[in-house]
Amino acid sequence: MSDSIRDRIAELVAEINRQNYNYHVLDQIELTDSEFDALFLELKTLEAEHPELILPNSPTQKVGGMILKEFNQITHEMPMLSLDNAFNEDDVMRFDERIREKLTSSELATLTYWAEPKLDGLAISILYENGRLVRAATRGDGIQGEDVTENVKTIQSIPLVLTGNFPARLEVRGEAFMRKSVFEKLNLARLKKNEKPFANPRNAAAGSIRQLDSKIAAERQLSFYAYGIGIIEENPQEFTAHSEALIGLQSLGLPVCPLNQSAKNVKDLIAYQEKILSNRDQLPYEIDGVVYKVDQYALQEKLGFVSRAPRFAIAHKFLAMEARTTLLDVDFQVGRTGSITPVARLEPVNVAGVMVSNATLHNEDEINRLQVMIGDEVMIRRAGDVIPQVIRVVLEHRDENVRPILFPKTCPVCDSAIERVEGEAVARCTGGFSCKAQRIERLKHFVSRKAMDIEGLGEKWLEIFVNENLVTDPADLYVLNKAQLLELPRMGEKSADNILASIEGSKQPKFSAFLYSLGIREIGEATARVLADQYASLEALQNETAENFQKIDDIGPVMANHLVEFFRNEASQQLLQRLTSFVEIQYPAPIANAGDLPLSGETWVATGSLAHFSRDGIKDRLIELGAKVASSVSKNTTVVLAGEKAGSKLSKAEELGITVMNEEEFLAKYPL
Ligand code: IVH
Repeated sequence: MSDSIRDRIAELVAEINRQNYNYHVLDQIELTDSEFDALFLELKTLEAEHPELILPNSPTQKVGGMILKEFNQITHEMPMLSLDNAFNEDDVMRFDERIREKLTSSELATLTYWAEPKLDGLAISILYENGRLVRAATRGDGIQGEDVTENVKTIQSIPLVLTGNFPARLEVRGEAFMRKSVFEKLNLARLKKNEKPFANPRNAAAGSIRQLDSKIAAERQLSFYAYGIGIIEENPQEFTAHSEALIGLQSLGLPVCPLNQSAKNVKDLIAYQEKILSNRDQLPYEIDGVVYKVDQYALQEKLGFVSRAPRFAIAHKFLAMEARTTLLDVDFQVGRTGSITPVARLEPVNVAGVMVSNATLHNEDEINRLQVMIGDEVMIRRAGDVIPQVIRVVLEHRDENVRPILFPKTCPVCDSAIERVEGEAVARCTGGFSCKAQRIERLKHFVSRKAMDIEGLGEKWLEIFVNENLVTDPADLYVLNKAQLLELPRMGEKSADNILASIEGSKQPKFSAFLYSLGIREIGEATARVLADQYASLEALQNETAENFQKIDDIGPVMANHLVEFFRNEASQQLLQRLTSFVEIQYPAPIANAGDLPLSGETWVATGSLAHFSRDGIKDRLIELGAKVASSVSKNTTVVLAGEKAGSKLSKAEELGITVMNEEEFLAKYPL
C-alpha cells in the first residue's frame, strides 16, 4: 500500500515539476489550470496523509508558510558587485576601447561579447549544496545581504533540487522580478482593498522578497532569471565562458533569459541594444537597459575589477520610464458601468520616447493617498500599453498656488448623484443609461472588435448618435436608416453606406461575442466564452441561478450575482428581446431542441488523451450531444469519459462512484 502511494507521490512530483518547468522556463502550457490544480490537490492530500513521504523537491514545498520575526544577515562568500553604467554609444565605445587596450593581440583574437537584457528587479544569490537549495540571500550592500531562503523557495521557476550533472556547491546569481501582468493585477487588487499600490514592478518584487510571511511572498508570483555564478566547487562540467555557464545552469533546471545573445564586436552590441529597446514595451517584464559582458572567463580574469565593478562588463541603461511634470487639471471620466475615474491633465512630457499628457489617478482614495493638488509637480510613470499613472508628488516643489482636487458629488455628464458603495474603492454615477457617458461607453463596447465587431463605427459617430438622440441603446443601431444618417453634419453618402453595411454584417454574432457585447459587469471575453460553451442558449442563461453559475470554474460569487442581476433586470430583458429580433446568434453547435438531445441535462468530464478527439474536439462533441462540460469531477458529474493516461480525475470519479466510460464505449453509444 505504502509503496504504491510512494510511487504515486513520486509520479505526481515529477509531473508537476515538469509542468512547472514547461510553464515557467520554456513558456509552454500543456494542462489547463484546473487540470494542474487537480494534480496539485491530489499530491497535497497524499502528503497530508503521509507526511513521511514528502519529497524535498515536492512543489508543495514552494507555497510558503514560514513566518519569520526578522531576516538573518548573511555575509556573501564572494562579494556581489555592481556594474558601471553607459548612457550612450560613446560610453559603450570607450568600454570596448578600455578592454582592447588591456588585452594582447592573441587574446583579442579570442574575444567575443555576450549581451543580456538588464532585468529590473533585485539581485539574489541562491546556494545549492549537493543539488539542494540550502540558502538564498539578497544582494544587500554587496558584502552582507538578508537571508530570504523561505521566500525564494516559493518562486516557481527556481528548482528546489537541481537536475542533471550538478557541482557539489553552486551559488547561482540572478534577478528576481515581477512580470508586468502580475504587477498590474496586484496593484488593482491593492487599490480595490484601499491599499497603497506599488510604484513599479521592481518595488513590488523587492517588497515581496522582503516579506516575513512566505505565504504572501508565494502569492506575489515572482519570476527569476539566472545571469551568473558565484561560488562553484567540484563542477563535473567545465565552463570556460559565461555563455557556456548559462547553458550549464539551464541544464540543471535554472531559467535563463531567452533574449541573451552573443555579439562579435561593439557594433553588434549597439545593434542588440537597439533591437531590445524597440521591443521594450512588448516584453512581459520591465528592463532598464542591457548588460554587455566579455564572454571568455580567461579574458574576464585578465581584465579584473576597478573598485566595486568589473572591467569586463557594463550596463547600457535606457531612458527612465518615469518623468516629472506639472498637474494642470483633473477631469472625471465616466465609464461603461458608471465608474468615475479621475484623469490627470498634464503639461506634456516625453517619457522614454512617448509624449504623455494624461495619466490616471485611479480613484478618490488614491488622490487622498498621494495628497496631490492641482498645480503640483508630479512624477508620472508609463509602462507598456498601460495608461500612465501619477506615482507621487514632488512636495519639495509645492508652491502656494496649488488648489485641492474636489471629487464631484454628481456626475459631470448627467448630473445624477455619484454613489460609493461601502467597502468599494470605485465611485459610480447612478444615472444608468440615462447618462449619456454611460450610453456612449456601452455602445463603444458593443461595437468593439471582440464584441459585435461593427467596424467603421468609431467613437466620434457614436457620440454624435447619442447626442442627437438617434441611438439610446445598442439595439437602436439596428433600426438606423440612411435618411437619418444623411441628416447628420459631415455624414456623406459613402460613410452612411459603410456604417449601415457594417451594422448589417454584425447580425450573425457568435454566442460568446454576443454575450461579451452585453457588457455585463466583470464578464470579460474569456468568461463569455466559458459561458457560451456551457450553456446551450440565451434562454438557458436567463433562467440560471447564482448557485449554478458558481459551479463553473472561474466564476465566483461576485460574477454570479452580476450575471443573475443582469438577466433578471427588466431593462436588460427588453434589450435582449429587441436585440434578438435583429440578430441571429450563432451557437457553437446546432441545437434543435435542447431538451431532446441525448445528453441533455447531463454533466460530463473528459480526461486523459483520446484517439479520435482533440481536447476541444471532445468538448464540442459533448456539447453537440446536449451535455454540459465541466473541467473537474464533483458529485454533480454524470459521466467521466476517460482516455489513455487518465489520472486524478479518474481516481476521483471512482472514489465518488461516478460512471466512467472509455472512448470505445462512448463511440459505440454515440457514433460520429
Ligand atoms: S551581471 C558584477 N546581468 O544589475 C555584477 N546584472 O548594477 C554582475 N542586473 O545588481 C551583475 N540584469 O541586480 C547582471 N543580465 C544581468 C542583469 C544584472 C539585471 C542587475 C543586478 C545587479 C545590477 C548591476
